[in-house]
Amino acid sequence: MQPKVSIVGAGPAGFALAADLQGHGKSVLVYSHPTHFRHANSVKEKGHLQANGVMECSTTLPVTSDMGEAIAFSKTLILTVPSTGQETVLQELKKFALHRHTIIAVPGNLFSLIAAELDAECIFETNLSPYSCRMEEGGLAVMGRKKRIFIAPLQRNLNPVVYDKIRNIFPMELKWCSSVIEVVLSNVNGVFHPLMMLMNAGRIESTAGDFLLYREGLTRSVANAMLAVDRVRMKIGEAFGLRLKSAVQISNECYGQSFADFVDLAQNSPPHNRLKAPSSLENRNISEDVPDLLVSWCCLAETLGIDASPIKAVIILVEMATGVDYFRTGRNLQRLHLEDVTADELVARFSPATHEMIKSNG
Ligand SMILES: NC(=O)c1ccc[n+]([C@@H]2O[C@H](COP(=O)([O-])OP(=O)(O)OC[C@H]3O[C@@H](n4cnc5c(N)ncnc54)[C@H](OP(=O)(O)O)[C@@H]3O)[C@@H](O)[C@H]2O)c1
Repeated sequence: MQPKVSIVGAGPAGFALAADLQGHGKSVLVYSHPTHFRHANSVKEKGHLQANGVMECSTTLPVTSDMGEAIAFSKTLILTVPSTGQETVLQELKKFALHRHTIIAVPGNLFSLIAAELDAECIFETNLSPYSCRMEEGGLAVMGRKKRIFIAPLQRNLNPVVYDKIRNIFPMELKWCSSVIEVVLSNVNGVFHPLMMLMNAGRIESTAGDFLLYREGLTRSVANAMLAVDRVRMKIGEAFGLRLKSAVQISNECYGQSFADFVDLAQNSPPHNRLKAPSSLENRNISEDVPDLLVSWCCLAETLGIDASPIKAVIILVEMATGVDYFRTGRNLQRLHLEDVTADELVARFSPATHEMIKSNG
């Protein structure tokens, strides 16, 4: 029997994953929230999805707006909504018994912590979307497909069969991380996106994004600022006993590339160097990556007694530019259900050593 997977989120990333899984022999059903049905509608109207670029295919994909149908279709649900949409999906998921379901949030951005009351068998998170892709007039344009993504479950005593099941679903290599904290710290979009947007804000607004965001917008001084944010990210990792790679090394590992630094990557990486800038600051490079990555990194750093000034500076400047209070609306300690946790408890809960101890005990 063909393995079945429900994909929750009908944007470019969800459709790319659905088409890729189908091409690898899986049976898929795509769920689109009824109030976010525009891409699903266009695929439905055309009767098929045409993918171009590094993935070429024309395929028919079943789409539903009934969460009950998606849940009944498969015991594996892959969430491909942006983290800003996870809360809406969570409200839908809470209506169902999910104790035999596996949920994989792609990317997670600590979804598993905000979904604490969800009665799921297990929740996995990945660091990034496997595809760099956009919906275009003619269909789905796929600019990049990662060779490897990072993943970990929230739960730490899972049956090995579950890991095998996950391994068999994804059509790319999986790097197993020690915890969802290692995974969220490996979402390097938090290093790249907000600073690129902020330091090019004038150009974005005066040209409505008519330039190449990486190739023309990630220059030496932008890279220097990114390095400062990246150092804090790696220090947070150290506090958890992790030796995280730099953002460029993680991007290289995911795409199978070997760029020397941020500028080299911005100039020469095909999935990045042709990307146009968004037309305004109202874009998920800010609205997703600041509240759901930078705010959580900053709050973790502060709990651990790490100087997070570079990250805090970015958040504050974005708040000043946009008027949005991201510290309040983002994944702060309260939203992550970590507000009463001490530094020692935080480390004990997520460090690789604890993971190994639990694994060997049972
Ligand atoms: N596409 C890429 O190249 C890429 C690369 C790296 C990482 N990612 C990450 O992968 C995730 C998905 O990417 P994507 O490009 O497919 O995203 P997307 O098009 O912005 O969103 C995916 C789907 O979720 C829906 N959605 C948005 N907000 C929602 C909400 N509040 N409730 C319910 N549904 C909602 C969208 O509807 P609407 O169309 O109505 O908004 C769309 O159908 C994001 O976290 C993104 O940052 C994507």
